[in-house]
Amino acid sequence: MEHPPIITPEESILQELESQRPNHAPTLLSRAERHLAVERGFLGLYRWYTARSQETRNWHPDLTFDWRNYRQDHSDDIHQIVEGFFAVEQYVPDYVITLLRLIRRSHGRSHFHMRWGSEEEKHADMWHNAVQFGGRRSREWLEDYMFALRGQEWKLPWDDPMHICFYTVFQERATQVNYLNLGLVAKGESPVEAYKNDEDPVLAHAARVIAIDEAAHYNFFLEGARLFLYYFPDEAVNAMVDIIRHFSMPAGDIIPDYAQLTEALHRTTIFGPRQHYRDVVKVALKNLGGDGLKAVEDGIRRSREVPMEDGQMRTTAIFDSLDYDTIEAKVQQLIGRVNQHEAKFGLDKIAPTEFVPNPDIEAWRNQRG
Ligand SMILES: [Fe+2]
Ligand SMILES: [Fe+2]
Repeated sequence: MEHPPIITPEESILQELESQRPNHAPTLLSRAERHLAVERGFLGLYRWYTARSQETRNWHPDLTFDWRNYRQDHSDDIHQIVEGFFAVEQYVPDYVITLLRLIRRSHGRSHFHMRWGSEEEKHADMWHNAVQFGGRRSREWLEDYMFALRGQEWKLPWDDPMHICFYTVFQERATQVNYLNLGLVAKGESPVEAYKNDEDPVLAHAARVIAIDEAAHYNFFLEGARLFLYYFPDEAVNAMVDIIRHFSMPAGDIIPDYAQLTEALHRTTIFGPRQHYRDVVKVALKNLGGDGLKAVEDGIRRSREVPMEDGQMRTTAIFDSLDYDTIEAKVQQLIGRVNQHEAKFGLDKIAPTEFVPNPDIEAWRNQRG
């Protein structure tokens, strides 16, 4: 009588693995490896940011500006706008606490977030000074207003770290555009005749300094968003579209006189739907590798239409929705910058951040021919 074949433990594992093998080319980078690549990218980016980017922006809300010479006779709309910016930046404790809870396990993101919060706190205090020195409001009014603002609590518009990363890309860019355009008015270069008399070197200085901070924030979140797009293309492209479709500026629903702020921003042409689409959505989307929202959405739809028989084909079809050659080059450049930073103190010899290529991109290139 023939013995049944003896199956060693190793063989049984092999058989089990064989039976579970997917019927398409395996994804060479596991989810855990993708998370690790994103995490290391964020950590390197944070280190680079604090060493290089932040050191050049070491200003103080009290001492950097010539507050004694801040104009008190601005137009009502410019006063209103400065008060509105002050109001939005009042929720910095909420901006920090809420998101920090969500990303506390990520070294790079959570530590960056605290640093970011310390910069946003300076913005709140800078606008506080502008309102105080603007002469339109009493000290008591300012205290009461602040108390009323902080009686409300800002809530996260999305509750997953990836969506929030994309949200901050667009929000930081929008904030930067607001400050840049206020800066134009303060330089006496308003395109609207009624505000040509709002020239004010102190306000121009303040707007310039703060716009540079917002540009740095925008760049940080942009690099982070590219990491997500690179390693988690499906989820990230969809998150990006969600944000663009449903974007609104923070705290607009809890600031009592937000409608007046919006109207003043429109009248002065500092910010409105036109600036939002032209200078925020279009610019940020381009920096994220997108050629217009419709093209991205068409790309998502087409990728869903790819048949499932070959899982790899479906996975890689999403790469047609954005300029993935550029996204890959940008991620590589980021890691190159991080490496230069690491070489400055010898970390390159111990634990360098390596560029981990996403093999799905190679598969997509091969399919593309
Ligand atoms: Fe800010
Ligand atoms: Fe910011």
